[in-house]
Amino acid sequence: GEQVSVSLLGLGVVGSGVVKLIKNHQEELAHRLGCSVQVKSILVRDIEKVRDVSIEQTLLTTDPNDILRDPEVDVVVEVMGGIEESFQHILDAFSAKKHVVTANKDLVALHGPELQQAADKNHCDFYYEASVAGGIPILRGITDGLSSDRIQQVMGIVNGTTNYILTKMNNEGVSYENALKEAQELGFAESDPTADVEGLDAARKMAILGRLAFSTDIELSEVEVSGIKNLDLEDLKYGERLGYTMKLIGFASCEKGQVEVNVQPTLLSKDHPLADVKNEYNAVYVYGEAVGETMFYGPGAGSLPTATAVVSDLVTVIKNMKLGVSGHSAVKPRFKKELKTADKRLGQ
Ligand code: NAP
Ligand code: HSE
Repeated sequence: GEQVSVSLLGLGVVGSGVVKLIKNHQEELAHRLGCSVQVKSILVRDIEKVRDVSIEQTLLTTDPNDILRDPEVDVVVEVMGGIEESFQHILDAFSAKKHVVTANKDLVALHGPELQQAADKNHCDFYYEASVAGGIPILRGITDGLSSDRIQQVMGIVNGTTNYILTKMNNEGVSYENALKEAQELGFAESDPTADVEGLDAARKMAILGRLAFSTDIELSEVEVSGIKNLDLEDLKYGERLGYTMKLIGFASCEKGQVEVNVQPTLLSKDHPLADVKNEYNAVYVYGEAVGETMFYGPGAGSLPTATAVVSDLVTVIKNMKLGVSGHSAVKPRFKKELKTADKRLGQ
């Protein structure tokens, strides 16, 4: 029968999950798509590495051109991370008329609009659901589910690692260092966890969320950010005794073209719905003018949850290919915003 060929850039925590999901859910995927999905090749750094997914050694390569110059590859799934190399590979994929799905928020936060332009120019699809809040279909929730509304506010816990650390410190008295080590072992943290604990990972996600929610241009450099690195276990315990829980909260609002986006550790009263979001779980509160309050909740990191977002994007790409409507995934910026910064707020 008909077959769509997919190649992966990366076979780590997320890439292994993607391979497992495509294999374990192949019947469902074939039923939904009317064709089968074949993993054709996978880019890795080290072919000899022992992996926790069974894969034919012959599928692995260390040469990106084996994928990017292979005319039989229809879709490239970028799950290798980093910025410069993955940026170039994705541009090359678009030039070769291949659709792209990525989980890379570092890249989308920094170069998303440029990549989208390259995708449009080549009539290719570009989807990145897994880049924000792991397994939660939040980007679709905003761009499809709430597409009829005017979104005014987005607020939430969008980093699994820091939420895991804070939960362990708060609830079990585990030290910051040990909690971070556990989050790394469980595959939630980035290979260099600095971006997680300094709030930059959450800032990247808030920039992406803000762009899509408000249909405007938001630069990563415009997101005000502070992380959890310097929080003290004693301070957290003190907050707990007073009925408050510390969470790393991302906030984005848009009012009459004035946009504000920031990330900061925030003390929440224990009866606040976000106070109860534990471990690597994420939650995103979205307020729309017509719908009012909505809340999206689920695993924000980890292999299989993140893989569901990647493979669901893949399903959309393949459906678009079959319908002949590829290259229309872009959410175009609608207006130039005015930035509301802390200085401005204080001056008001
Ligand atoms: P990871 O476990 O470190 O895996 C990275 C994979 O990419 C490895 O297989 C590695 O090859 C390969 N790779 C990296 N650089 C390469 C290069 N220059 N050339 C060839 N291969 C290269 O990372 P991950 O946790 O799966 O994350 C992947 C992406 O998903 C990142 O953008 C991350 O931010 C994003 N993400 C992760 C999560 C999560 O929960 N982990 C959730 C959402 C999004 P080797 O195996 O040979 O070393
Ligand atoms: N390091 C990220 C987190 C992975 O902890 O949320 C998911 O994007």
